[in-house]
Amino acid sequence: MRTTSAVIVLLAGGAYAQTITIPYVDGLTQVINVHGSGTTNPQRLFWEAMDLLEGRSKLPLTMTYRGVGSGVGQAEFKGDVTTGFKSYNHFGSGDIPMTSVLYNDIRNSGREMLHVPFALGAISVFHNVPEAELGGAPIDLDACLLAKIFTRQITTWDHPDIKALNPKMTAKGEIKVHRRADGSSSSSGITQYLNGKCPASWVNAAGAPYSTGPTFPSVPGTTPVQGSQGMADAIDTTPNAIGYMDAGHGHEKGFAEIALKNRDGVYLTSKNANIGAAALAVLAANAFPVNATLDFSAVNLYDQAGPTTWPIVLFSYFYLDRNLTSMDALSASVLDYFVKFILSPEGQALAETNWFSKLPAQLLTFSTQALALIQQPVGFITFTTELAATTQQFIGARTHVFSGKRQSWPNYETNVLTDRLTALEAKVAVHDHDDHDEMNCISTWCFTGQRLAGIAVASILIACFSLFIGLIGLCLGLVVFCKNARPRLSEPGMELSTATKNARM
Ligand SMILES: *[C@@H]1O[C@H](CO)[C@@H](O)[C@H](O)[C@H]1NC(C)=O
Ligand SMILES: *[C@@H]1O[C@H](CO)[C@@H](O)[C@H](O)[C@H]1NC(C)=O
Repeated sequence: MRTTSAVIVLLAGGAYAQTITIPYVDGLTQVINVHGSGTTNPQRLFWEAMDLLEGRSKLPLTMTYRGVGSGVGQAEFKGDVTTGFKSYNHFGSGDIPMTSVLYNDIRNSGREMLHVPFALGAISVFHNVPEAELGGAPIDLDACLLAKIFTRQITTWDHPDIKALNPKMTAKGEIKVHRRADGSSSSSGITQYLNGKCPASWVNAAGAPYSTGPTFPSVPGTTPVQGSQGMADAIDTTPNAIGYMDAGHGHEKGFAEIALKNRDGVYLTSKNANIGAAALAVLAANAFPVNATLDFSAVNLYDQAGPTTWPIVLFSYFYLDRNLTSMDALSASVLDYFVKFILSPEGQALAETNWFSKLPAQLLTFSTQALALIQQPVGFITFTTELAATTQQFIGARTHVFSGKRQSWPNYETNVLTDRLTALEAKVAVHDHDDHDEMNCISTWCFTGQRLAGIAVASILIACFSLFIGLIGLCLGLVVFCKNARPRLSEPGMELSTATKNARM
């Protein structure tokens, strides 16, 4: 690697000559590192964004994110004796605020931390009741009914309380309740919502309250599943199942969603709800900390007011140290660029394709202001951006520029293949539609439109062939008839002579 700098003379229209020094690689002999750990929900978003930035960087850069859950992310951000109570990574991430105990531990170890919201996630309840038994509408449930279902006080779909809200539903089966066995923000969301909204029903058989938080209580008669994938598989394959997960994940799987009753009394699904409204309601109620250095543990977005507000919404946060003066300067510079990238229109659009809702503008401002509070190390550099759409001649070639004109080959090829696969899936879906939706039945035999057309053509061909054979048969018959008729007409005897018979054979 070259360690000297090149001196480049720029001539601007011949009017003047300016000499500027542009280092090729800054004498850099080490790869820039940026690493994080925490909640699994944004792991796809982070992996995608990190891969994009590595491809756009002129400097050698390696970024990683370990999806280990919000709880582990918080512990690793706090650190332990091994790290001298410093973070194990450059950043942490969680769908829940730092618990007040950990927040205070961090403060007491001489650090100041920031909560930087970067997206919103909706938690939804999905089911697998056969569509034919739904009566043509989503299943409506309020928080108390949901609490009784998840605590097994109500165990069948035809329970009178469920029927009262869903008179057209004909489902009768046992409700198969699934819960996450591992700690998860979705469990945190559902347990806090149910306990907050209907504490009288969030109780065990003896009437004692169930716990809330990332670990769903081990309610007898419920089925534990591992990870959001385990939950998705269980709902997918278990008739009459019910379970909870982040809304985007469930919708991507095409699951049927329970319509929840929001604070304004409106039953709605997360697809019809405004996810950002919950965050705006919290801001409007001054229930949000005035700056990112404060304790966020009391912040929650459950059951906020508004006619289209979704009742179970979570912030996803970056956990960052405020004092980064001892971090490697280039790592701190790229970390700053990375967080700003996630908050940028491009990053927020990526968040949406990765099952999140974007932050309302007021919160983007809050997060941007939070980043400005960070004390950066000596040598910190603000990296700039060259967009894929706009070439910045000379400037785009500089060292501290993330250029959209660069891309990693795997990223490029993945996009090409994804587009092709999407087109192919759309075509297959059209065929599936033809096969399943347009059935034509004759007696108990059913055929699709296409197959019926095929059968019709085959029938016509067979009919034509039969007609043809029939005509030949008719002609042959006529010939035989005519030949046979002659002797009959010429003589009264019916029998041909043996000679005549033999001559004809
Ligand atoms: C954040 O707000 C608290 C409470 O108002 C205040 O004491 C503190 O100075 C603020 N911090 C910054 C960095 O503005
Ligand atoms: C930031 O941390 C460094 C040591 O890592 C310390 O010397 C400095 O005083 C800290 N700055 C503030 C404002 O606390």
